[in-house]
Amino acid sequence: MTKIIAVSGKGGTGKTMFSTLLVKAISQKTNNLLVIDADPDSNLPETLGEPVETTIGDIREELKELTQKDNIPSGMSKQDYLKSRIFEIVVEAEGFDLLVMGRPEGSGCYCSVNSWLRQIIDNFSKDYDYVVIDTEAGLEHLSRRTTKNVDTMIVVSDASKRGLGTAKRIKKLANELEIKFKDIFVVANKINEENKSIVENNAKELELNLIGKLPFNEEIAQYDLVGKPLFNIDKNNEVFLEVNKIADKL
Ligand SMILES: Nc1ncnc2c1ncn2[C@@H]1O[C@H](COP(=O)(O)OP(=O)(O)O)[C@@H](O)[C@H]1O
Ligand SMILES: [Mg+2]
Repeated sequence: MTKIIAVSGKGGTGKTMFSTLLVKAISQKTNNLLVIDADPDSNLPETLGEPVETTIGDIREELKELTQKDNIPSGMSKQDYLKSRIFEIVVEAEGFDLLVMGRPEGSGCYCSVNSWLRQIIDNFSKDYDYVVIDTEAGLEHLSRRTTKNVDTMIVVSDASKRGLGTAKRIKKLANELEIKFKDIFVVANKINEENKSIVENNAKELELNLIGKLPFNEEIAQYDLVGKPLFNIDKNNEVFLEVNKIADKL
């Protein structure tokens, strides 16, 4: 059985940082892991240290062009074309495979292609033990249904009550849209001795399941500052050790 984990939250809360370290943690347990960067403003390839040339969005455009020119390879349906291209663009890295969604669909809806893509990616995901998805900021992924089949939703939050409120809204919206996650957890990020108990109280008040608290860490900030892949951070880094514990609970 594949376990699909999505990482969500407001922009700048640490989704990509957490996703990167979660991938590092899970890839120590299994190599059968698919990572999907579903943030249009994607930077997971950089933090994982795995450059990606072609995105799913590019393939969607390719198909549009080929269709306009009536140039689909003969004997191939559009679905076959998408499927074979997705197989081609997956980056096979050490410990995980990586797929980048890229820019989302523009205003002129290309709905059938989007639903084919979703279906192909869903099927493709079934061959893995774990799928980790770094989502776009906010709640759009829910209404677009990109996180419909997710087992575990992890909302990364800063210490503020407003930040935790996003987790509450994700819970509520998922309910309204009849999207069922097996679990929804909150990871509080950039936590220190001063704000720790406040975060705990706020989470309790909002009835959120706080699965971990990550400290602010200079080394992580430094990696990002100079653009070094966070995936290569020392395995004794304090934040990574915490993420490892979270990974064991998932
Ligand atoms: N625990 C942490 N300690 C230090 N810096 C952090 C920590 N978590 C995130 N950051 C930094 O905060 C910034 C935003 O994090 P990022 O993961 O890119 O957020 P998001 O993906 O949610 O927009 C980045 O510069 C990142 O390096
Ligand atoms: Mg990000």
